[in-house]
Amino acid sequence: MCGIVGYTGKREAGRVLIEGLKKLEYRGYDSAGVALQENGQLIVTKAAGSVADLEKALNDQFKEVRVGVGHTRWATHGPPTDLNAHPHSSVSGKIVVVHNGIIENHRSLRRRLTEEAGYRFNSETDSEVLAHLIEYYYQDDLLEAVQRAVADVEGSYALVAACSEEPDLLVCARQDSPLIIGLGDGENFVASDIPALLAHTRKTCIMEDGEFASITPDKVIFYDADSLPVEKEVLQITWNQEAAEKGGYDHFMLKEIMEQPAAVRETLRQRVDVSSGLVELQELDLTPEQILNLDKIYIIACGTAYHAGLVGKLAIEKLAGIPVEVDVASEFRYRTPVFAENQLAVVISQSGETADTLAGLRMARARGLKVLAITNVVGSSVSREADQVLYTWAGPEIAVASTKAYVTQLVALYLVAIYLAQIRGTLEAAKAAELVKGLLGMPDQLKQVLSEESVAAIQAYCDYLVKWDHAFFIGRNLDYPVAMEGALKLKEISYIHAEACAAGELKHGPLALIEKGVPVIALVTQEAILDKTLSNIQVVNARGGAVFAITREDFKDVSRQVDSVFNLPRVNDVLAPILSVVSTQLIAYYTAVGRGSSVDKPRNLAKSVTVE
Ligand code: M6R
Repeated sequence: MCGIVGYTGKREAGRVLIEGLKKLEYRGYDSAGVALQENGQLIVTKAAGSVADLEKALNDQFKEVRVGVGHTRWATHGPPTDLNAHPHSSVSGKIVVVHNGIIENHRSLRRRLTEEAGYRFNSETDSEVLAHLIEYYYQDDLLEAVQRAVADVEGSYALVAACSEEPDLLVCARQDSPLIIGLGDGENFVASDIPALLAHTRKTCIMEDGEFASITPDKVIFYDADSLPVEKEVLQITWNQEAAEKGGYDHFMLKEIMEQPAAVRETLRQRVDVSSGLVELQELDLTPEQILNLDKIYIIACGTAYHAGLVGKLAIEKLAGIPVEVDVASEFRYRTPVFAENQLAVVISQSGETADTLAGLRMARARGLKVLAITNVVGSSVSREADQVLYTWAGPEIAVASTKAYVTQLVALYLVAIYLAQIRGTLEAAKAAELVKGLLGMPDQLKQVLSEESVAAIQAYCDYLVKWDHAFFIGRNLDYPVAMEGALKLKEISYIHAEACAAGELKHGPLALIEKGVPVIALVTQEAILDKTLSNIQVVNARGGAVFAITREDFKDVSRQVDSVFNLPRVNDVLAPILSVVSTQLIAYYTAVGRGSSVDKPRNLAKSVTVE
């Protein structure tokens, strides 16, 4: 989720790197650094803060340097500091590395390098291990050392390495994190994202998983996973700068919706043991005894994060048998919860800076509760003030409407629920393993929900919705918070008044508003209460409401009872919100586009609400 730029050629490398890094800053980075090849030495300059801070620190030195690598960091392991910023150097300073992704086995590699080779580490990052590992294998051939190093690595990486003994050369490797080579004349480039290249070249080669590249000013050679040279197709980029920042999508929101399979995969990484089917949450600093004694959990959050909390409540109560209260943070802080021993507070915040959520966190801590934060931003206020943090690894979210952050919050909450259940013995091993398997399958199922065919079906429905000024979202049990989130998203960016209603509550009031054609989006994913939800739908049908059901492909009865359906893949009741909410995000997005709204920056709203 960070930004990489590398250059080897005839220009002033420092300038090319700084300009390239600036083009990646739109993603919201927190520290940056460059390494420049000068007279047989790799000179590293780093700065916490923006690329402008790095530029100041560089102060136009090293004008004669023609080769270097640069990086802007979005912190995952360790807060944004000078030391944790990339590039990372090996013990002797001979090797430098910039890295995007997560090295899952960094702890064991760190141990091995410390014990076997006596290496000392300077940062808290997982990435630093790469620099040392490459030096460990280096025998006058950087490419070979990188190949041997990544063979030891588990996890995801886009990495670029340089060596002071091979001054023109950059070596790249990719696994599950993008890396693009830019081809020039007597110069070549590498970057994690196309915007960093556009000022210099539009001729690119996209690296695939498992591939390596060695880059010098006059040549780029690609190798496959078996180290055999491969021919790559050269792609001509036609995007302008703005389109490139959005990955070719029209809006950041759509880009972020499409990033959800990867975001979910990252959030699950290192937290489930595939072979045993167990959840392992090292971040959760509670003893088994404390978990067994837990009497109550308070979940505190705002907006979309609050809706994630509502799903979390249902999952934790169902799986772990612990009573959960969920509060909108602005209400929590002014009520008088009955705090007692053996309670835990969980605060959820994408930004980690929401004023109301922070106030709730402080109140809970002041009253003696341990606080677990679920947040997407390392080093944020929430993460600093909480007792323990479970990061969502969604990467920077730019659109005001939260999408991938929400879905990764759900994943984090499911992990907490299963973990607590494992320890409390409230879930049979086979059921826990089935849920873990379900979570691991989510990235692929999300891809199905985001397929061209599915998106086209949603677009067709939005042609209908776009003309209305009011809409209803209904659902029961786990479908209800998803209905709330769907309604919020639609309001937020399309400005259509949308109301979420527990399907069983319709008859107690809102039904008065249902008349011919009124759009009703029904969430119908809960097998255990399918008949109940269908009978609520009948009531809407009887008043002429137009029902669009978001349901499972195997619930064959549903299509006969509604105007149109959107089919999700078969999914466990508990995990269904991960899939169903994505279809509501698409509904909000295409309706907003159809109404010509400002999708990424809706009126009156801000990405991070740091005032009460
Ligand atoms: O950064 P946070 O998660 O604490 O933000 C909370 C809400 O402000 C946020 O979720 C808001 O509701 C979103 N704009 C919804 O899309």
